[in-house]
Amino acid sequence: MRRKTKLIHGGISGDPHTGAVSVPIYQVSTYKQEGIGGHKGFEYSRTGNPTRHALEQLIKDLEEGHAGFAFSSGMAAITAVMMLFNSGDHVILTDDVYGGTYRVMTKVLNRLGIESTFVDTSDVTNIEKNIKPNTKAIYIETPTNPLLKITDIQEAARLAKKHGLLTIVDNTFSTPYWQTPITLGADIVLHSATKYLGGHSDVVAGLVVVNSEQLAQDLHFIQNSTGGILGPHDSWLLMRGIKTLGIRMEEHEENTRKIVEFLASHPAVKKVYYPGLESHPNHEVAKKQARGFGGMVSFDVGSAEKADQLLNSVKYFTLAESLGAVESLISLPAKMTHASIPKERREELGITDGLVRISVGLEDVEDLIEDLAQALK
Ligand SMILES: Cc1ncc(COP(=O)(O)O)c(C=O)c1O
Repeated sequence: MRRKTKLIHGGISGDPHTGAVSVPIYQVSTYKQEGIGGHKGFEYSRTGNPTRHALEQLIKDLEEGHAGFAFSSGMAAITAVMMLFNSGDHVILTDDVYGGTYRVMTKVLNRLGIESTFVDTSDVTNIEKNIKPNTKAIYIETPTNPLLKITDIQEAARLAKKHGLLTIVDNTFSTPYWQTPITLGADIVLHSATKYLGGHSDVVAGLVVVNSEQLAQDLHFIQNSTGGILGPHDSWLLMRGIKTLGIRMEEHEENTRKIVEFLASHPAVKKVYYPGLESHPNHEVAKKQARGFGGMVSFDVGSAEKADQLLNSVKYFTLAESLGAVESLISLPAKMTHASIPKERREELGITDGLVRISVGLEDVEDLIEDLAQALK
């Protein structure tokens, strides 16, 4: 099956009982047993629900892995994956990971004894230098949020294998439409499905795909024990979103390419961060490992005041957290998504007060460019 076909026919499609072409919403918590243990595959909806199961099969197929899991948010998914580790274990992470990932590692999981080190994984030698005897995994976000840095997944996975570590990839920005980390050697792929996979700013969800039966059993045990599952209605909304992922991603990319051209030549813009630009330091890696560069762009307008003016002047870019939806969104990472990262750390990373991030939507690109042009003026 090719990629757009798989989005529509992957996993479990329709309902064999009625012929309904869409998987029904099984709004149910428990299932009748014909005697103790005599059930039809489902006992209790925390453990398994048919609508969630259909979504989990679909993401497993799309990421070309062994098993899929749906959680109540991206953070619930990330936390469940980290629960695979024990007190005393160490994880190496990309330095400009999503602020919430940084927060859960440094303010919650650290209290349970899970250590973390944040390094610039776009240079894989930084990973090797930080491997310790208790290191258990490399956690990569690529492209990163908000600086769009790229890590070579194949190289990181090769290094991880050499040292007996797991490779975990946050694939939120690329989605399996553009990038399939398991085919590049990763063990676990996860998503804030709230973003492109859902695509319509109407659901908060997290998805995980693992590449082995052992990881599948371990993660299922954690999911069932800790309970951060996705409900049936949200599972259904995600499946509906995923059906159009291909055409949406193609269009996001096309609009983004034109906006990047415009920004790169605008005198008020100091710097543009986009992996599709030939001048991007990891452009060649991005080209090698992904089929597209995505719809996220960051650019620096030089100061917090200028960034504020821009945010207050745009008409079609909604000022909001989040990304990956049909509507264009704009945000100021230093004050919004990355506010939980201390200022000194943000500055070290290059997340300046004048850095603006846009998630390019599916509006007419001419309207978006005209809007940015008047706001930059
Ligand atoms: C790259 C990335 N990973 C994880 C998350 C967390 O996901 P959620 O907001 O669905 O909990 C986000 C949220 O913005 C994100 O951008």
